[in-house]
Amino acid sequence: MSMQKQIRKKITVSTISKYKNREKIVMITAYDALFASLFEEQVDMILVGDSLNMSFMGRNDTLSSTMDQMIYHTKAVCNGAQSPLIVFDMPFGSYNTKEDALKNAIRVYKETNADAIKIEGGSERAEIVKHLTDNGIAVVSHIGLMPQFVRSEGGYKVRGKSEEDAQKLMQDAIKMQESGAFIVLLEGIKSEVATEITKALSVPTIGIGAGVGCDGQVLVWSDMFGFFEEFKPKFVKQYLKGGKIIRESLAEYVKDVKEAKFPTDEFSY
Ligand code: KIV
Repeated sequence: MSMQKQIRKKITVSTISKYKNREKIVMITAYDALFASLFEEQVDMILVGDSLNMSFMGRNDTLSSTMDQMIYHTKAVCNGAQSPLIVFDMPFGSYNTKEDALKNAIRVYKETNADAIKIEGGSERAEIVKHLTDNGIAVVSHIGLMPQFVRSEGGYKVRGKSEEDAQKLMQDAIKMQESGAFIVLLEGIKSEVATEITKALSVPTIGIGAGVGCDGQVLVWSDMFGFFEEFKPKFVKQYLKGGKIIRESLAEYVKDVKEAKFPTDEFSY
């Protein structure tokens, strides 16, 4: 594949729906214009995930993320990337009622160029998803391990280990599809359960820690490129040792400055 920046056609909700059983969907997170522009010509979708509250804000979980914070980062991502389908991650507490969910989702559409919003939760959120989709909002449903439930669940727990839980996940996924979600994102689910869900749905699934049987995959960019080193779940493949490279390069710069070796004439006027 050429690494020259290419002008691609905009990927829309209807384009993505056609990927099912044809082509795997590639999604990555991004939180700013710089990285969004680096990712844009190779990925199908960009998620402005509330994971930014951990990797970039330095908090222990995603729960303190706010609408203002997410809007700011989504505007930046939309400035950097035009062709991928961009998904806004609704922060904790912003969609507890259908009225709040719609009010906040409308704000997303009015203030940013995001194409869709993502909400965490299974069947219990069905009415909210239906209300959103009935009112012209494209919804990605996020089920399985849901980071916004980390405090109420007492940790991040892999789902689908028992037959009962596998059935609950299947019901949740079907309910989300029936409520109008155009993608069901499956996080931290036993691979065989995620594969069965993917086969049962007509909308695409996107997995994170849910095995290769999903219709697409998403990873958090700072995890996969080795910049966020405090957190290394089993499902993260590190494609780069980013933190190590930065520290080594920084050490060279520090040494150059301390020893008055930078700037040389080459870098001076
Ligand atoms: O916030 C996020 O980045 C996410 C992914 C883990 C799917 O929700």
